[in-house]
Amino acid sequence: MTTCNLPLLALYDRIASIYDPWSRSVTEDVGFYVEQALASGGPVVELAVGTGRIAVPIARAGISVIGVDASPEMLGFARRAAESAGVAELLDLRLGDLRDPPVPERVPLVICPFRSLLHMETEDEKLRALRAARSLLEADGHFVFDVFSPSPEDIEETDGRWLEREPEIFERADWDEGTRTLSLSIRSGDDVTTFGLHWLSAPEWLHVLDEAGFDVDVVYGWFDLRPFNGEEDMIFVCKAR
Ligand SMILES: C[S@@+](CC[C@H](N)C(=O)[O-])C[C@H]1O[C@@H](n2cnc3c(N)ncnc32)[C@H](O)[C@@H]1O
Repeated sequence: MTTCNLPLLALYDRIASIYDPWSRSVTEDVGFYVEQALASGGPVVELAVGTGRIAVPIARAGISVIGVDASPEMLGFARRAAESAGVAELLDLRLGDLRDPPVPERVPLVICPFRSLLHMETEDEKLRALRAARSLLEADGHFVFDVFSPSPEDIEETDGRWLEREPEIFERADWDEGTRTLSLSIRSGDDVTTFGLHWLSAPEWLHVLDEAGFDVDVVYGWFDLRPFNGEEDMIFVCKAR
């Protein structure tokens, strides 16, 4: 069955059961975000917390996390992962939209890992999300997130091809350089789910971050803290002005 035009919430509900197997190889960011959380002292808000891939390791490091996500199914997996890890009391999961998060608390660190901000379709939506993140921060608090902007080589290599990302889980990238949208399809069995990721260039991110009231402390090019040098990946560490 093919599902292309459902709202994002429903799309992530549909892939919640394969999200962890699908993202199994994505481990390079976990230590980075745990270090950020430890340095902040917590508590931490994770916007688009998903199945707790990052939030559970942060909680295991002893830092409490408020996790917001629009998908009840993804949150169900996060709750069970926290229970299995014995850190359920450190993980406060809330159903909601990251553009209007149900979080009255103010914290020293807000994070939005694994390119989740690219689910915001337009620059205006991204600005709305950034302003929401900023509103959650204490004075001198930090917002840390990662995104990407594809290289021509990556587009050339992957466009329109089904690739077996994990056993029995296939992924296909359809790139539209005009609208700067990646339509990412995930197939498991007969089920195909497609969602959009909408990228910006680094200068455009800097512009929208400035508009949202952030100063950028540093932009890394990877989670090993190498400086950003025009590569695909960008990790922004920002401070509320
Ligand atoms: C790529 S996953 C990232 C999950 C987790 N942060 C991680 O690193 O594995 C993207 C998540 O964003 C959530 N999401 C998408 N749009 C959202 C929105 N407007 N508000 C809240 N969550 C949203 C989805 O439900 C999904 O769980």
